[in-house]
Amino acid sequence: MRQAGRSLPEYRAVRDRFSMLAACTTADVIAELTLQPLRRFAVDAAILFSDIVVPLRAVGLDIDIKPGVGPVTAQPFRSGADVAKLRNLEPGDVPFVTDAVTMLVAELRGTPLIGFAGAPFTLASYLIEGGPSKNHERTRALMYGNPAMWHALLARLADIATAFLRVQVEAGAAAVQLFDSWVGVLSPDDYASAVLPHSRRIFEALDGLGVPRIHFGVGTGELLRLMGEAGADVVGVDWRVGLDEAARRVDAGKALQGNLDPALLLAPWPVLEQRVRHVLDEGRVAEGHVFNLGHGVLPQTDPDVLARVTDLVHEASARAVRA
Ligand code: CP3
Repeated sequence: MRQAGRSLPEYRAVRDRFSMLAACTTADVIAELTLQPLRRFAVDAAILFSDIVVPLRAVGLDIDIKPGVGPVTAQPFRSGADVAKLRNLEPGDVPFVTDAVTMLVAELRGTPLIGFAGAPFTLASYLIEGGPSKNHERTRALMYGNPAMWHALLARLADIATAFLRVQVEAGAAAVQLFDSWVGVLSPDDYASAVLPHSRRIFEALDGLGVPRIHFGVGTGELLRLMGEAGADVVGVDWRVGLDEAARRVDAGKALQGNLDPALLLAPWPVLEQRVRHVLDEGRVAEGHVFNLGHGVLPQTDPDVLARVTDLVHEASARAVRA
């Protein structure tokens, strides 16, 4: 999940020397920050250090990541002319990603590396709002009011996400995760008509590459079935819906990922331990379960608590497999 490294002193030491986007566009820094959590925690996979706005910057958009704020752009998208100037991503736009993934795959010796991209809706929300937003009103207003511009924008963002994921897989990423973090603001009907076709094109384009495809959003309890139908092999779930209920909501053949509330990492250990075991128990109903948080690691999280949780997950799930 996003910001796994942000609670680590060694992460902050590197970030003191590089802005977020400088870190995301320098191959050896990407590799170092990707590996840091693996040196501390017994996790089963690495997630590439990058950000969902990296491919947008790489095609020339004036977008930055402001500390403590998130992605911001001084020129929000307002008309079809803004969409027309958005070009597709070429592998040559992101050589630092190809280089970092190649270095990481060699270094990881079999531990899978997860590549990722932002999904069209969530990317569009930053371009339309100009920055982070609580309710995404401008985004929804544009979706309702200017369907031609909306679909042109999402189609282009789907092309960019596809190209960005393809670069990562061709360099050796073993799985991909498409983050539609903020799509939970939509109703199922609007999701189905305005978003799903674009996300589906991304998953279809990756079909032949032979890597598992994970799809995640926050507050998407009502959208879980549709997000699976978009073409994910694994549906990510936040902490608002139990995994047993989520398993009933997605179609057969899909695995689930999730869903410990990140705030539980700040609670006393006996409470946290009981909740970790509860997530593992509920996940047994699903056809497959990847233990994860329901969203990103909070920066104030104690790294030793994360280490204890990863150890507990291994111990408890190994015992369940033997039982
Ligand atoms: O854990 C990791 O380091 C994996 C790499 C990763 C980052 N961003 C690095 C990052 C991943 C997978 C992301 C995805 C991402 N970025 C998403 C989708 C996932 C999600 O969280 O829902 C979104 C919506 C973004 C956009 C974004 N970038 C936000 C909202 C923020 C947080 C702003 C803040 O400071 O609270 C960022 C910045 C960001 N991206 C950080 C990291 C490690 C924090 C930068 C820092 O403070 O050092």
